[in-house]
Amino acid sequence: MTSTLQEGILVGCGNPLLDISASVPMDFLKKYEMNEDDAILAEERHMPIYRELVDGFQAEFLAGGSVQNSLRIAQWILGQPKVAVFFGCVGEDEYADILMEKARSAGLDVHYQIKKDVPTGTCAVLITGTHRSLCANLAAANNFTIDHLDQPHNKTLVENALYYYISGFFLTVNPPSIMQVAATALAKQRPFLMNLSAPFISQFYMAPLLAVMPYVDIIFGNEAEAHAFATAQGWPTEDLREIGKRLVALDKLNPARPRIAILTQGCDPVLLIQRDSVEEFPVTRLAVHEIVDTNGAGDAFVGGFLSQFVQGKSLDVCIRCGNYAAGHIIKNPGCTYTGEPQFVE
Ligand code: AP5
Ligand code: NA
Repeated sequence: MTSTLQEGILVGCGNPLLDISASVPMDFLKKYEMNEDDAILAEERHMPIYRELVDGFQAEFLAGGSVQNSLRIAQWILGQPKVAVFFGCVGEDEYADILMEKARSAGLDVHYQIKKDVPTGTCAVLITGTHRSLCANLAAANNFTIDHLDQPHNKTLVENALYYYISGFFLTVNPPSIMQVAATALAKQRPFLMNLSAPFISQFYMAPLLAVMPYVDIIFGNEAEAHAFATAQGWPTEDLREIGKRLVALDKLNPARPRIAILTQGCDPVLLIQRDSVEEFPVTRLAVHEIVDTNGAGDAFVGGFLSQFVQGKSLDVCIRCGNYAAGHIIKNPGCTYTGEPQFVE
């Protein structure tokens, strides 16, 4: 990074989760009726998973939570602390301490809402070869309330930011907070970025997703998420380019900034979809032996993208940095990195 950025330029809200990650046999997924690439919310029947992973599968504890992952990665690449601010809700326990420590050591400015009587959220990451299946037990993260954003200091942080990023995952928690941040972004003519996050968001939370969509300047998603959105909308197409074109054509409040969709497709090229154009950005394919786990690839992609976007770099540079960051974290467990970033513009 060359020039110094204003502190707090980027604000994100999401679910701070501690990932409990382990390699498991397919039978373990079957037992809990899960598939190898799921991202689901835990129901009562999933609750034993977390204990079982710790007791029987030498689970690793890693800082997770989609937005927090992306902001940590953005901070790593930027190298200047406190460019990004994060809001989310945790309990008052050891897991919250771990999350806080990991986020702060990455340079992220975290402002957690703390719920004393609820445990910090966790996410089971079930690794089977190069696939990962996620089961999130939101716990405290589900207790985030809008009054946290209305605290004077937090309010100032939101108002002073120049870029906003919220996951689709946060739609299950507190849509009013999302709408408030989105409205601030619109009033100040600042970019508001969002992620489709998981197929279940389009399947079960389409109403709040459509309510915020008119505010969304940039929408991220992977193939499965884009298809789930299209299916939930009844769009008669499975073509990712066509889905992207329809996503950018959905109603938008600020017509001066036409919506952009950025769709990732694993090791296939990233699609950048703007009004009438679709551009492809190649991904450097990793050999199977280089892949430690793909958990966090999508989050890291967004983190790399954001690190350049907040510097006013072109979309081309932002996407290339997204691919760089995703490629790096795939070679590490969870959404973690090693050493100094090597991205060359
Ligand atoms: P999640 O967000 O699902 O993981 P991810 O970051 O999306 O990782 P994926 O492997 O799913 O990537 P993707 O499919 O999105 O992207 P793609 O494959 O297209 O979950 C991670 C975190 O989510 C966890 O930490 C967890 O805590 C959190 N979480 C779960 N539930 C939550 C909830 N309810 N609320 C909040 N947080 C929650 O790839 C993207 C890019 O990666 C590509 O463009 C490319 O650059 C690169 N890439 C991918 N595959 C390859 C390859 N084979 N070779 C080279 N590059 C590759
Ligand atoms: Na993802």
